[in-house]
Amino acid sequence: MSFSPEWLALREPADHASVNALVREQLRARLASKPLVRVVDLGCGAGSNLRGTWSALGPKQHWTLVDYDPTLLAVARARLTTFGAGEPMTHGGLRLTLPGTTIDVTFKQVDLSRDDLGQIVDGADLVTAAAFFDLASQGLVDRLTSAIAARRQTFYTVLTYDGIAAWLPEVLASAAMRAAFNRHQHGDKGFGPALGPDATGSLAKGLGDRNYTVTTGASPWVLGADFIALRRDLDQGFAGAVHETGLVPSADIDSWLAARLVSLDAVTIIGHQDLLAFPR
Ligand SMILES: C[S@@+](CC[C@H](N)C(=O)[O-])C[C@H]1O[C@@H](n2cnc3c(N)ncnc32)[C@H](O)[C@@H]1O
Repeated sequence: MSFSPEWLALREPADHASVNALVREQLRARLASKPLVRVVDLGCGAGSNLRGTWSALGPKQHWTLVDYDPTLLAVARARLTTFGAGEPMTHGGLRLTLPGTTIDVTFKQVDLSRDDLGQIVDGADLVTAAAFFDLASQGLVDRLTSAIAARRQTFYTVLTYDGIAAWLPEVLASAAMRAAFNRHQHGDKGFGPALGPDATGSLAKGLGDRNYTVTTGASPWVLGADFIALRRDLDQGFAGAVHETGLVPSADIDSWLAARLVSLDAVTIIGHQDLLAFPR
């Protein structure tokens, strides 16, 4: 499944504004005083998670950004260079200089559906991901939680879709649209049947069973006039996904979408969960 750099850029400000501040504070309390923190970011896309999370960590950070899409890895490098006055390092890395913080970044092309997860997370203090785990299967969660627990690593993931989708103004088709979309979320996104809205529960159970303390918190998108381009793009994506399910009559989807696209003050609310887990 591929994601365009334009879509990731469009969603990034909303993502950063939505992250759960209480869960983020717990991450800061746990790791900000560490002189060096080594981070692996799974499904890094264009590097949004680093740009959103670095300020909660300590003065020296090493990030390994992994993704299977070489185009996104190249875009991540370019966007991070601009973001943190990036200087190239040996072996293709990048050194970012941000207020009070130096971050060395390494980029790795990795397929998380196939490659050895133990090797990918090895050496990290923190394994993280953003907007990724709703794509994952139960098998991936099992393999990953077991690799992380074997290394007693901290785990932090943000913006996992949780099944809440609401649109204002509410119309008759909304409930059927939501049910169809949530069915679509369980389709195969490259890892086998996806967990979709069940992903946070599955991560929490997998890590809880492995002797981790787990905290979760909501990080919903509330997309009104401030995020109108993202809201319209998302509504279009929703309609497309619902069409694919065949569960809602096409005419209902089309009139739902047409009304949303012309509206200037419609609101879309998408529920997400953030999760922090550390070994007991
Ligand atoms: C919704 S995007 C999120 C990107 C980024 N974390 C962000 O917050 O903007 C999901 C990311 O997962 C990556 N991805 C999907 N399947 C993957 C796989 N099998 N191996 C590695 N990366 C994968 C995609 O290329 C994409 O960058």
